[in-house]
Amino acid sequence: MSENYQKTRQQNLLEIKDLNIFFKSDKNPAPIHAVRDLSFSLKQGEMLGVVGESGSGKSITNLALMGILGDGAIVKARECSFNGRELLSLKEHEWQKVRGGEIAMIFQDPMTALNPFLTVEFQIVETILAHLNISKSEAKNRAIELLLQVGITSPKDRLKSYPFELSGGMAQRVMIAMAISTSPKLLIADEPTTALDVTIQKQILTLIKSLQEKNNMSVILVTHDLGVVSEFSERVQVMYAGELVETGLTSELIKNPHHPYTFGLLSSRPGAVERKAKTPLASIAGIVPAFHQRPFGCQFNPRCTHVQEDCKLKSIPIEQGVRCLHPMKEALS
Ligand SMILES: Nc1ncnc2c1ncn2[C@@H]1O[C@H](COP(=O)(O)OP(=O)(O)O)[C@@H](O)[C@H]1O
Ligand code: SF4
Ligand SMILES: [Mg+2]
Repeated sequence: MSENYQKTRQQNLLEIKDLNIFFKSDKNPAPIHAVRDLSFSLKQGEMLGVVGESGSGKSITNLALMGILGDGAIVKARECSFNGRELLSLKEHEWQKVRGGEIAMIFQDPMTALNPFLTVEFQIVETILAHLNISKSEAKNRAIELLLQVGITSPKDRLKSYPFELSGGMAQRVMIAMAISTSPKLLIADEPTTALDVTIQKQILTLIKSLQEKNNMSVILVTHDLGVVSEFSERVQVMYAGELVETGLTSELIKNPHHPYTFGLLSSRPGAVERKAKTPLASIAGIVPAFHQRPFGCQFNPRCTHVQEDCKLKSIPIEQGVRCLHPMKEALS
């Protein structure tokens, strides 16, 4: 192994090579191929933005990284290492340390992620005790500190609350407090603000960003909003139909997208390209194909405005960060 290769490996907290996810199906003898040959890496302390329409495979990738996809799923990879350990060969008792301990996750809807019948105190203290070897009263003190860290005032009172007594923004702050209670190395935030009011969204994202920087924590931030990615994460990857279609530095990709899908996503953002007054936003015609109804060749070809005959012949490899035979050259105006 060369010195440089070893150095890169040491720097990467997460190293994913050719991750494939399949679902067993009653209707099909062969499992359905969902996520295909996904490769990416993440350094300690780095935030990676992940974007793509619904049904692109973003959440199932995250669930695979947490080892919670369930029996119906088959997960394979050439490498899926986290902090130097191969995740796919962990035993269930080893997973229990990693999941919620070293890798934590927050979800779209905090209200459904919290148990409605248990107080905030019970839920945070339970998480802490499951992972840290400290007493119950120490765990309670830590819970109070954590609530203060995530911007909850009167934390002692809040500990006594049930989830229904919290606003959506406050519930997401509690989820974040629980997620960071074990000082995870990696936080997966899967559309953490989609269920929240616009005014609260920015506060929550700013909170995640500040915790990432303060704790040198790595973050995978899934969002369908490229504006959020450009503001909060240095690097971005665009997913489409279970495949990574474009990846790069956010600042460059936003100005100069090469994949027609990325171009479409960016063009459909309000204010992205000049529009005549009262004309509708540009949008990408059609929908993401279901995994069992994939088109032949490039997965985006039925919706692509730049499609050519060769795009339909075989699957397209990703080269220099773009999965496209005819990458776009023009910059967004
Ligand atoms: N257990 C499962 N069995 C079969 N298909 C599934 C299963 N879980 C998810 N899927 C399929 O995977 C698709 C993509 O899922 P998901 O990762 O949630 O997309 P995204 O987060 O990008 O919106 C879903 O639309 C669904 O069709
Ligand atoms: S490979 Fe062809 S169909 Fe696919 S995105 Fe590129 S130009 Fe469009
Ligand atoms: Mg999702």
